[in-house]
Amino acid sequence: MSAPVDVPVALLGYGTVGSAVHRLLEDGAEDIARATGHRLRVVRALVRDPGREREHAPAHGVLTGDFRRIVDDGGVALVAEVMGGVEPTGEYVAELLRRGIPVVTANKQLVARHGPELFEAAAEGGAQLRFEASVCAAIPVIKLLRESLVVTNVHRVLGIVNGTTNFVLGEMEAGSTYADALAEAQRLGYAEADPTEDVSGLDAAAKMAILATVAFGSRVALEGVEVAGIDALRDEHVAAARALEMRVKLVGEAVLVGERVGVRVGPAFVDAHHPLASIEGAFNAVMLQGDAIRELTLEGPGAGGTETASAIVADLVSVLGASEAGFLRDDPVWRSLGALPHGELPSPYYLRLEVEDRAGVLARLAQELASEGVSVARLVQQPGDGHAVLHVVTHEAPAGRVEAALRAIRALPESRGDASALPVVSSRGVEELGWT
Ligand code: NAP
Ligand code: HSE
Repeated sequence: MSAPVDVPVALLGYGTVGSAVHRLLEDGAEDIARATGHRLRVVRALVRDPGREREHAPAHGVLTGDFRRIVDDGGVALVAEVMGGVEPTGEYVAELLRRGIPVVTANKQLVARHGPELFEAAAEGGAQLRFEASVCAAIPVIKLLRESLVVTNVHRVLGIVNGTTNFVLGEMEAGSTYADALAEAQRLGYAEADPTEDVSGLDAAAKMAILATVAFGSRVALEGVEVAGIDALRDEHVAAARALEMRVKLVGEAVLVGERVGVRVGPAFVDAHHPLASIEGAFNAVMLQGDAIRELTLEGPGAGGTETASAIVADLVSVLGASEAGFLRDDPVWRSLGALPHGELPSPYYLRLEVEDRAGVLARLAQELASEGVSVARLVQQPGDGHAVLHVVTHEAPAGRVEAALRAIRALPESRGDASALPVVSSRGVEELGWT
């Protein structure tokens, strides 16, 4: 394989997202080189204050407070805009694009408000403008809509698209105050520089305008989105929702009705059985409804430095992958991995055992399980027809060890019926599983 092509990258911004992009590019340099044939190297990062102490500071000379050092440098081949704001950010991005330098951005306000001018600048300069990170952070919904779902005629988009407010509402349900929950979201790097954008619904409105634009293929202006935030919610709303077996969520909805588009964002009571009700913390979810796909739901981290940086890096890789060979064009197989032997895949297990109902039998079963290293988390005994039915949930154990224990149990003279095992899929600890 020939040596990877060197690609000097500039970051506009080196905060929560920008510093995480730098780290991912450094940690993933080999993977990116293998995938694209390019080595991405951060050579400049624009900040307000280059002299400030930073936790993950780049090499000396990378930070600059002067945009001209990026655009006039001549050597910068790709730019990631992760500084936020509309001005002067929009002017910077437009100038880069006009000069033919591809830009990827996490900035939903910029894309929602100035998308048309920026795409015009991109066309003028023959450069790509990508914006995956601007909507739902780590969830690749833009790529999915633009590529995989291009002929599906999506007519409804429903989702939770702001991580901060989803986190705040969850914390309030758990007893936190609004102010404390918001302060925690800021500390965790989820909130916008001005968190009123999150709580007023403006952040979600920009994302829904972008989603509607891409899904319906028609420009949806931010001003056209009906917006309400969670700032007007009261504790009583959260309590009432709980009493109705519902949850309060900030929900975005975009619909295509005939030849017209409607987009809105606001707090809603979501039935506890609806998929959006189970979206916790700073996670987002987007449900897409279309003619060919019926319904498809994507869920994942919707905020956070590393999570957003992963989408920025994905866009950078897409820009490269569209222009040069690599596994994005060819065979995706680049290494040879061994197979995990059958029976080594671990899982918690449900076991159904039927045995004679008399003293000492339970101890024999426990002994057979223990001799295979299978540990019992829960056990429920029910009377059967002259024997006992045991429902057992185990802690995580390799499938082969569980099978070996079952074989031994089936061979016991006290065994009745056919002992069986099924893996348990649960995000709760197995000790917490109930039995009604
Ligand atoms: P942040 O932590 O506040 O970082 C902003 C960075 O940009 C800082 O390095 C800052 O410099 C620099 N900057 C801001 N204005 C500048 C200006 N006028 N001139 C030069 N440098 C400037 O923000 P962030 O959380 O990383 O967010 C960045 C962007 O990503 C925003 O558009 C946001 O909406 C988007 N986003 C964020 C998340 C998230 O979870 N955080 C998720 C998705 C999308 P200093 O360091 O000197 O202050
Ligand atoms: N402030 C935004 C949120 C960041 O909480 O969803 C991700 O766009």
